[in-house]
Amino acid sequence: MPQPLKDARHLVRMAGLFLVAGVGFLVLRSALIPAGFGELGHYRSGALDDNARVEPRFAGRGACAECHDLAPEELAGGAHAAIGCEACHGPLAGHAADPDTEVPPALDTRSLCATCHAAEPAKPGWFPQVVAAEHAGDDACDECHVPHQPGV
Ligand code: HEC
Ligand code: HEC
Ligand code: HEC
Ligand code: HEC
Repeated sequence: MPQPLKDARHLVRMAGLFLVAGVGFLVLRSALIPAGFGELGHYRSGALDDNARVEPRFAGRGACAECHDLAPEELAGGAHAAIGCEACHGPLAGHAADPDTEVPPALDTRSLCATCHAAEPAKPGWFPQVVAAEHAGDDACDECHVPHQPGV
Protein backbone atom coordinates (compact mmCIF):
# COMPACT_ATOMS: atom_id res chain seq x y z
CA MET A 1 0.00 0.00 0.00
CA PRO A 2 1.64 3.29 -1.15
CA GLN A 3 1.88 6.11 1.40
CA PRO A 4 2.37 9.35 -0.61
CA LEU A 5 2.97 11.61 2.44
CA LYS A 6 5.04 9.08 4.35
CA ASP A 7 8.27 11.03 4.05
CA ALA A 8 6.67 14.50 4.06
CA ARG A 9 4.63 14.47 7.29
CA HIS A 10 7.11 16.70 9.07
CA LEU A 11 6.72 19.24 6.27
CA VAL A 12 2.93 19.21 6.57
CA ARG A 13 3.25 19.76 10.35
CA MET A 14 5.67 22.61 9.70
CA ALA A 15 3.29 24.22 7.20
CA GLY A 16 0.50 23.93 9.77
CA LEU A 17 2.61 25.76 12.33
CA PHE A 18 3.38 28.51 9.84
CA LEU A 19 -0.33 28.81 9.04
CA VAL A 20 -1.24 29.15 12.74
CA ALA A 21 1.50 31.75 13.26
CA GLY A 22 0.42 33.69 10.15
CA VAL A 23 -3.25 33.76 11.12
CA GLY A 24 -2.32 34.66 14.72
CA PHE A 25 -0.23 37.54 13.44
CA LEU A 26 -3.09 38.86 11.29
CA VAL A 27 -5.60 38.60 14.18
CA LEU A 28 -3.25 40.40 16.61
CA ARG A 29 -2.40 43.01 14.01
CA SER A 30 -6.02 43.90 13.30
CA ALA A 31 -6.73 44.03 17.06
CA LEU A 32 -3.77 46.30 17.87
CA ILE A 33 -3.67 48.74 14.94
CA PRO A 34 -6.05 51.68 15.53
CA ALA A 35 -8.72 52.64 13.02
CA GLY A 36 -7.56 55.04 10.32
CA PHE A 37 -3.92 53.95 10.45
CA GLY A 38 -2.28 54.15 7.04
CA GLU A 39 -5.16 56.02 5.37
CA LEU A 40 -3.05 59.15 4.84
CA GLY A 41 0.42 57.89 5.67
CA HIS A 42 2.29 56.02 8.36
CA TYR A 43 0.12 57.39 11.16
CA ARG A 44 -3.45 57.37 12.51
CA SER A 45 -5.48 59.81 10.40
CA GLY A 46 -7.76 60.64 13.37
CA ALA A 47 -4.74 62.13 15.19
CA LEU A 48 -5.13 65.25 13.04
CA ASP A 49 -8.67 65.86 14.34
CA ASP A 50 -7.59 65.06 17.92
CA ASN A 51 -4.86 67.70 17.73
CA ALA A 52 -7.12 70.27 16.07
CA ARG A 53 -9.61 69.88 18.94
CA VAL A 54 -7.07 70.89 21.63
CA GLU A 55 -7.95 74.37 22.92
CA PRO A 56 -5.06 76.84 22.53
CA ARG A 57 -3.67 77.82 25.95
CA PHE A 58 -1.66 80.82 24.76
CA ALA A 59 -3.35 83.95 23.39
CA GLY A 60 -0.23 85.60 21.97
CA ARG A 61 1.26 89.02 22.52
CA GLY A 62 -1.04 90.72 20.00
CA ALA A 63 -4.11 89.74 22.01
CA CYS A 64 -2.64 91.14 25.27
CA ALA A 65 -1.83 94.47 23.62
CA GLU A 66 -5.44 94.98 22.54
CA CYS A 67 -6.46 95.57 26.16
CA HIS A 68 -3.18 96.33 27.95
CA ASP A 69 -1.67 99.15 25.93
CA LEU A 70 0.55 100.29 28.81
CA ALA A 71 2.56 97.06 29.24
CA PRO A 72 3.98 96.96 25.66
CA GLU A 73 5.03 100.61 26.10
CA GLU A 74 6.77 99.78 29.37
CA LEU A 75 8.59 96.85 27.76
CA ALA A 76 9.66 98.73 24.62
CA GLY A 77 13.39 99.46 24.40
CA GLY A 78 14.16 97.53 27.60
CA ALA A 79 16.04 94.27 28.12
CA HIS A 80 12.78 92.30 28.25
CA ALA A 81 11.26 93.85 25.11
CA ALA A 82 11.58 90.64 23.09
CA ILE A 83 10.13 88.31 25.74
CA GLY A 84 6.55 87.17 25.20
CA CYS A 85 3.99 88.33 27.77
CA GLU A 86 2.98 84.75 28.47
CA ALA A 87 6.58 83.60 28.98
CA CYS A 88 6.27 85.39 32.31
CA HIS A 89 2.52 85.58 32.96
CA GLY A 90 1.84 81.99 31.87
CA PRO A 91 -0.67 80.78 29.29
CA LEU A 92 -3.64 83.18 29.40
CA ALA A 93 -5.92 82.33 26.48
CA GLY A 94 -8.79 81.93 28.96
CA HIS A 95 -8.15 85.36 30.46
CA ALA A 96 -7.87 87.03 27.04
CA ALA A 97 -11.19 85.51 25.95
CA ASP A 98 -12.99 86.46 29.17
CA PRO A 99 -10.95 88.75 31.46
CA ASP A 100 -13.69 89.08 34.07
CA THR A 101 -13.91 85.38 34.97
CA GLU A 102 -10.27 84.34 34.59
CA VAL A 103 -7.90 86.67 36.41
CA PRO A 104 -4.15 86.07 35.90
CA PRO A 105 -2.45 84.69 39.01
CA ALA A 106 -0.10 87.01 40.91
CA LEU A 107 3.52 86.18 40.09
CA ASP A 108 6.17 85.24 42.64
CA THR A 109 9.15 87.07 41.15
CA ARG A 110 11.76 85.10 43.11
CA SER A 111 10.82 81.89 41.34
CA LEU A 112 9.83 83.56 38.04
CA CYS A 113 13.04 85.56 37.56
CA ALA A 114 15.16 82.61 38.66
CA THR A 115 13.82 80.44 35.84
CA CYS A 116 15.87 82.61 33.46
CA HIS A 117 18.43 84.41 35.64
CA ALA A 118 19.62 81.85 38.21
CA ALA A 119 23.39 81.59 37.79
CA GLU A 120 24.50 78.39 36.08
CA PRO A 121 27.85 77.47 34.54
CA ALA A 122 26.04 76.10 31.48
CA LYS A 123 24.64 79.56 30.58
CA PRO A 124 26.63 81.79 28.21
CA GLY A 125 28.76 84.32 30.13
CA TRP A 126 27.11 87.34 28.49
CA PHE A 127 23.68 86.40 29.83
CA PRO A 128 22.80 88.38 32.99
CA GLN A 129 22.66 85.89 35.87
CA VAL A 130 22.78 86.11 39.64
CA VAL A 131 22.92 83.86 42.69
CA ALA A 132 19.61 84.98 44.23
CA ALA A 133 20.64 84.49 47.88
CA GLU A 134 23.82 86.59 47.47
CA HIS A 135 22.27 89.17 45.17
CA ALA A 136 18.94 89.79 46.88
CA GLY A 137 18.92 88.04 50.25
CA ASP A 138 15.30 87.29 51.04
CA ASP A 139 13.90 90.21 49.02
CA ALA A 140 11.54 89.76 46.10
CA CYS A 141 13.18 90.71 42.80
CA ASP A 142 10.56 93.33 42.01
CA GLU A 143 11.43 95.31 45.15
CA CYS A 144 14.32 96.77 43.16
CA HIS A 145 13.67 95.77 39.52
CA VAL A 146 10.64 96.79 37.47
CA PRO A 147 9.78 93.50 35.70
CA HIS A 148 8.74 95.23 32.47
CA GLN A 149 11.89 97.41 32.45
CA PRO A 150 14.42 95.45 34.57
CA GLY A 151 17.45 97.68 33.93
CA VAL A 152 15.78 100.71 35.57
C1 HEC B 1 -10.25 91.53 26.36
C2 HEC B 1 -9.33 92.34 27.12
C3 HEC B 1 -8.10 91.66 27.73
C4 HEC B 1 -7.17 90.87 27.09
C5 HEC B 1 -7.17 90.41 25.64
C6 HEC B 1 -6.15 90.58 28.09
N1 HEC B 1 -6.48 91.16 29.29
FE1 HEC B 1 -5.36 91.11 30.98
N2 HEC B 1 -6.85 92.07 32.00
C7 HEC B 1 -8.00 92.57 31.43
C8 HEC B 1 -8.83 93.14 32.48
C9 HEC B 1 -10.18 93.81 32.26
C10 HEC B 1 -8.12 92.93 33.70
C11 HEC B 1 -8.55 93.34 35.08
C12 HEC B 1 -8.04 94.73 35.28
C13 HEC B 1 -8.11 95.12 36.72
O1 HEC B 1 -9.08 94.77 37.38
O2 HEC B 1 -7.15 95.78 37.14
C14 HEC B 1 -6.89 92.28 33.35
C15 HEC B 1 -5.91 91.94 34.27
C16 HEC B 1 -4.66 91.45 33.92
C17 HEC B 1 -3.57 91.25 34.83
C18 HEC B 1 -3.61 91.50 36.32
C19 HEC B 1 -3.41 92.96 36.55
C20 HEC B 1 -3.49 93.31 38.00
O3 HEC B 1 -3.54 94.50 38.27
O4 HEC B 1 -3.49 92.38 38.83
C21 HEC B 1 -2.50 90.78 34.11
C22 HEC B 1 -1.11 90.42 34.62
C23 HEC B 1 -2.95 90.65 32.75
N3 HEC B 1 -4.26 91.06 32.66
C24 HEC B 1 -2.16 90.18 31.72
C25 HEC B 1 -2.64 89.87 30.46
C26 HEC B 1 -1.88 89.19 29.44
C27 HEC B 1 -0.44 88.72 29.60
C28 HEC B 1 -2.69 89.10 28.35
C29 HEC B 1 -2.36 88.41 27.03
C30 HEC B 1 -2.24 86.97 27.09
C31 HEC B 1 -3.95 89.71 28.68
N4 HEC B 1 -3.89 90.16 29.96
C32 HEC B 1 -5.02 89.82 27.81
C33 HEC B 1 -8.33 92.56 30.09
C34 HEC B 1 -7.66 91.83 29.12
C1 HEC C 1 9.93 89.40 32.30
C2 HEC C 1 8.61 88.96 32.70
C3 HEC C 1 7.41 89.73 32.19
C4 HEC C 1 7.08 90.00 30.88
C5 HEC C 1 7.85 89.66 29.62
C6 HEC C 1 5.82 90.68 30.94
N1 HEC C 1 5.40 90.83 32.23
FE1 HEC C 1 3.77 91.79 32.85
N2 HEC C 1 4.38 91.65 34.76
C7 HEC C 1 5.42 90.88 35.21
C8 HEC C 1 5.49 90.94 36.65
C9 HEC C 1 6.49 90.19 37.53
C10 HEC C 1 4.46 91.81 37.06
C11 HEC C 1 4.15 92.24 38.51
C12 HEC C 1 2.75 91.95 38.91
C13 HEC C 1 2.45 90.49 39.29
O1 HEC C 1 2.80 90.06 40.39
O2 HEC C 1 1.77 89.81 38.48
C14 HEC C 1 3.77 92.23 35.85
C15 HEC C 1 2.66 93.04 35.82
C16 HEC C 1 1.80 93.16 34.74
C17 HEC C 1 0.50 93.79 34.76
C18 HEC C 1 -0.15 94.44 35.96
C19 HEC C 1 -0.09 95.97 35.85
C20 HEC C 1 1.30 96.51 35.85
O3 HEC C 1 1.74 97.05 34.81
O4 HEC C 1 1.99 96.42 36.89
C21 HEC C 1 -0.03 93.68 33.51
C22 HEC C 1 -1.37 94.18 33.02
C23 HEC C 1 0.96 93.00 32.68
N3 HEC C 1 2.06 92.70 33.48
C24 HEC C 1 0.82 92.70 31.36
C25 HEC C 1 1.85 92.30 30.54
C26 HEC C 1 1.79 92.26 29.08
C27 HEC C 1 0.57 92.62 28.26
C28 HEC C 1 3.00 91.85 28.65
C29 HEC C 1 3.48 91.69 27.20
C30 HEC C 1 3.34 92.85 26.35
C31 HEC C 1 3.83 91.58 29.82
N4 HEC C 1 3.09 91.88 30.94
C32 HEC C 1 5.13 91.11 29.80
C33 HEC C 1 6.30 90.17 34.40
C34 HEC C 1 6.35 90.26 33.03
C1 HEC D 1 11.82 84.21 30.00
C2 HEC D 1 13.12 84.55 30.52
C3 HEC D 1 13.24 85.74 31.45
C4 HEC D 1 12.54 85.97 32.61
C5 HEC D 1 11.43 85.14 33.22
C6 HEC D 1 13.11 87.15 33.18
N1 HEC D 1 14.10 87.62 32.38
FE1 HEC D 1 15.34 89.21 32.77
N2 HEC D 1 16.21 89.00 30.96
C7 HEC D 1 15.91 88.03 30.04
C8 HEC D 1 16.62 88.30 28.80
C9 HEC D 1 16.56 87.47 27.53
C10 HEC D 1 17.38 89.48 29.03
C11 HEC D 1 18.27 90.21 28.04
C12 HEC D 1 19.61 89.57 27.98
C13 HEC D 1 20.47 90.32 27.00
O1 HEC D 1 20.14 90.32 25.83
O2 HEC D 1 21.45 90.90 27.44
C14 HEC D 1 17.10 89.88 30.41
C15 HEC D 1 17.72 90.94 31.04
C16 HEC D 1 17.56 91.26 32.38
C17 HEC D 1 18.34 92.22 33.13
C18 HEC D 1 19.48 93.05 32.59
C19 HEC D 1 18.94 94.42 32.29
C20 HEC D 1 19.88 95.26 31.47
O3 HEC D 1 19.46 96.38 31.14
O4 HEC D 1 20.96 94.77 31.10
C21 HEC D 1 17.85 92.24 34.42
C22 HEC D 1 18.32 93.10 35.56
C23 HEC D 1 16.75 91.30 34.47
N3 HEC D 1 16.60 90.72 33.23
C24 HEC D 1 15.98 91.07 35.58
C25 HEC D 1 14.87 90.24 35.60
C26 HEC D 1 13.93 90.16 36.68
C27 HEC D 1 14.02 90.97 37.96
C28 HEC D 1 12.99 89.22 36.34
C29 HEC D 1 11.76 88.81 37.10
C30 HEC D 1 10.75 89.86 37.25
C31 HEC D 1 13.36 88.71 35.03
N4 HEC D 1 14.49 89.37 34.61
C32 HEC D 1 12.68 87.70 34.37
C33 HEC D 1 15.08 86.96 30.23
C34 HEC D 1 14.21 86.80 31.30
C1 HEC E 1 18.09 95.27 46.81
C2 HEC E 1 17.79 95.56 45.43
C3 HEC E 1 17.78 94.35 44.46
C4 HEC E 1 17.05 93.21 44.56
C5 HEC E 1 16.09 92.78 45.65
C6 HEC E 1 17.35 92.46 43.37
N1 HEC E 1 18.25 93.13 42.58
FE1 HEC E 1 19.01 92.52 40.82
N2 HEC E 1 20.19 94.16 40.69
C7 HEC E 1 20.16 95.22 41.61
C8 HEC E 1 21.10 96.24 41.15
C9 HEC E 1 21.37 97.57 41.84
C10 HEC E 1 21.68 95.75 39.94
C11 HEC E 1 22.71 96.43 39.05
C12 HEC E 1 24.09 96.40 39.67
C13 HEC E 1 24.65 95.03 39.64
O1 HEC E 1 24.93 94.50 38.54
O2 HEC E 1 24.82 94.45 40.71
C14 HEC E 1 21.10 94.45 39.71
C15 HEC E 1 21.44 93.64 38.61
C16 HEC E 1 20.74 92.45 38.31
C17 HEC E 1 21.01 91.64 37.14
C18 HEC E 1 22.03 91.95 36.06
C19 HEC E 1 23.33 91.30 36.45
C20 HEC E 1 24.34 91.41 35.33
O3 HEC E 1 25.30 90.63 35.40
O4 HEC E 1 24.19 92.24 34.45
C21 HEC E 1 20.17 90.58 37.19
C22 HEC E 1 20.06 89.44 36.17
C23 HEC E 1 19.38 90.71 38.38
N3 HEC E 1 19.76 91.85 39.06
C24 HEC E 1 18.42 89.80 38.76
C25 HEC E 1 17.76 89.85 39.98
C26 HEC E 1 16.91 88.78 40.46
C27 HEC E 1 16.59 87.49 39.70
C28 HEC E 1 16.44 89.18 41.66
C29 HEC E 1 15.54 88.38 42.60
C30 HEC E 1 16.10 87.13 43.05
C31 HEC E 1 17.03 90.49 41.96
N4 HEC E 1 17.82 90.85 40.91
C32 HEC E 1 16.79 91.22 43.10
C33 HEC E 1 19.38 95.30 42.73
C34 HEC E 1 18.53 94.32 43.21
